Amino acid sequence: MTLLSLLEKKWLRQAASSPAHFQSLLRRRRKGEPLQYIIGTQPFGPLNLRVRPPILIPRPETEHWAIQLADRIQNRPRRTLLDLGTGSGCISLLLTHLCPALSAHAVDVNPAAVELANENALLCSIDRFQAFQADFLHQDFPSHPSLSPPYDILVSNPPYIPLAEYLTLSDDVKKYEDPRALLGGNSGLDFYHAIARLAVRERFLSPDAIIALEVGHNQADAVSAILQSAKLRTDVWPDPWGIPRTIFAYR
Ligand SMILES: C[S@@+](CC[C@H](N)C(=O)[O-])C[C@H]1O[C@@H](n2cnc3c(N)ncnc32)[C@H](O)[C@@H]1O
Repeated sequence: MTLLSLLEKKWLRQAASSPAHFQSLLRRRRKGEPLQYIIGTQPFGPLNLRVRPPILIPRPETEHWAIQLADRIQNRPRRTLLDLGTGSGCISLLLTHLCPALSAHAVDVNPAAVELANENALLCSIDRFQAFQADFLHQDFPSHPSLSPPYDILVSNPPYIPLAEYLTLSDDVKKYEDPRALLGGNSGLDFYHAIARLAVRERFLSPDAIIALEVGHNQADAVSAILQSAKLRTDVWPDPWGIPRTIFAYR
């Protein structure tokens, strides 16, 4: 049974419509359901995003690098962005919200994620964002007629957990969050190889494009090497806990 903090109880009380409803929310939380799924929202920078299972709940480390990236691109002229594996839409919605000259396309293999991301765009009154269903591992990607490379900015928080590590995750994560959002193949690196292949494809990215990719806690060296073998230069950004978390790449 999950032990609840006073703060969690306060948030659940605020979300409840009656004392009986509050008791039912408490029961769900005590059984291990993530607080954000029960309340239905998660703050992400200045945005308050809708969340629902099994779409990944946006994480604080992702929010941290997305804000850092916004600082870098804020004053650039009009730019286009592609978000691979958008989930709730959090990264590209925050970037388009903070950078008025940016317009974003986002893709996800899961239609429920696409629906949620587009719903969040509407909720946040962001009209420079569109999400589409597409599989970026597929060799025909981006076959969707609305996707229009070359893009100036490529962002992704792809599934990166290696199979062996996935099996050790807490039951709460495995029970509620989509394995397709988490599992990055046996090594955890499958999606980074796919992104590197896209980066070198002719006219997929503009010549001065930049790429920002979130990585797992011990993957920074391996992912930097994958991108360097695609003739990209790389920097590593730490997260607020000092863990190398984001690979920033450029030509
Ligand atoms: C780690 S989650 C990240 C979600 C969101 N960007 C975030 O940071 O919270 C990865 C996302 O990639 C999507 N995904 C997995 N495989 C995919 C594929 N082959 N093509 C497109 N999206 C994929 C999953 O459905 C999931 O929403």
